[in-house]
Amino acid sequence: MSININTLVNKEKNSFNAYYKKILKSYLPSSKLSKAMVYGSINGGKRIRPFLISIFANIANIKKQNYFQLSAAIESIHSYSLIHDDLPSMDNDDYRRGKLSVHKKFGEAEAILAGDALHDLAFEILSNKKTHHDSKVRIILIEKLSKVLGCKGLAGGQSLDLIFENKKINKNKILKMYLMKTSSLFSFCCSAPFILAKKNKKDIKFALEFGNLFGLIFQIIDDIIDETENFSSLGKTPGKDKKQGKSTFVANMNKRLSISFCHSEVDKFISKNKKYFIKWRILEEVLKMNFKNLKDL
Ligand code: IPE
Ligand code: IPE
Ligand code: MG
Ligand code: MG
Ligand code: MG
Repeated sequence: MSININTLVNKEKNSFNAYYKKILKSYLPSSKLSKAMVYGSINGGKRIRPFLISIFANIANIKKQNYFQLSAAIESIHSYSLIHDDLPSMDNDDYRRGKLSVHKKFGEAEAILAGDALHDLAFEILSNKKTHHDSKVRIILIEKLSKVLGCKGLAGGQSLDLIFENKKINKNKILKMYLMKTSSLFSFCCSAPFILAKKNKKDIKFALEFGNLFGLIFQIIDDIIDETENFSSLGKTPGKDKKQGKSTFVANMNKRLSISFCHSEVDKFISKNKKYFIKWRILEEVLKMNFKNLKDL
């Protein structure tokens, strides 16, 4: 029986959005900064990261209450990263999720601060008892998340992304940049539910690697659709990567080679981890869901 992934994604998105709205309401005071934070984090996001968290949480039998805490923290982090990514000093994009980006709507200073405050909110949410009753487990999560966001992870990758603009960069360096700026957060999403469930090291390592590969494919496809899709489907300015001289897989090879690279990485990963894909059947479908968004190239 084939599982309809899009139905699952939407179902999870709706129920997560309701929880996330409540969380923001309970944590944020009434202020201009809060308005910018809500604007940058609510509405329009695909909520792919919460979806992945729900998949691994269901495998690990984690309660909704606990994994929604994780998802709320992660979407706050993700929103911060997008708000900063759009800033004039970074990708300089006026649009996000089909509407004005946060700095266009609230001004640059407020956008920087909204990003900072969403980043901090994530750690406040994660530290709450509702995430896990055992403070030791919460500290492990906080340590892991700090690592994937810092100079060896998301921030470091974003820095490389900017350094690599308008330069001839080889495939391995681009891969390293992708793993840092995008995969690291996905690897946290997949492994965190296993950490909550105190699963063994091998299972956690598998979840980390799954997330890394998912993130890699996700970014390669994001770069492809930046070239091939229009504003109404992207919700952000199309064709920007080329204009800004971004070093991407698509720029380095071409669309077909980039996609066949992704397919072969998926095949290798599945055959290396057969045991897990047999035990947790939905994971193959999840890993391949990104390809479904590609129109014929
Ligand atoms: C965009 O992420 C940034 C990348 C890592 C490519 P998403 O495509 O998940 O953005 P939203 O949350 O759906 O807007
Ligand atoms: C952003 O990559 C990755 C992040 C860590 C935020 P992109 O710059 O390609 O994301 P979009 O295309 O602006 O969403
Ligand atoms: Mg960028
Ligand atoms: Mg960008
Ligand atoms: Mg992009």
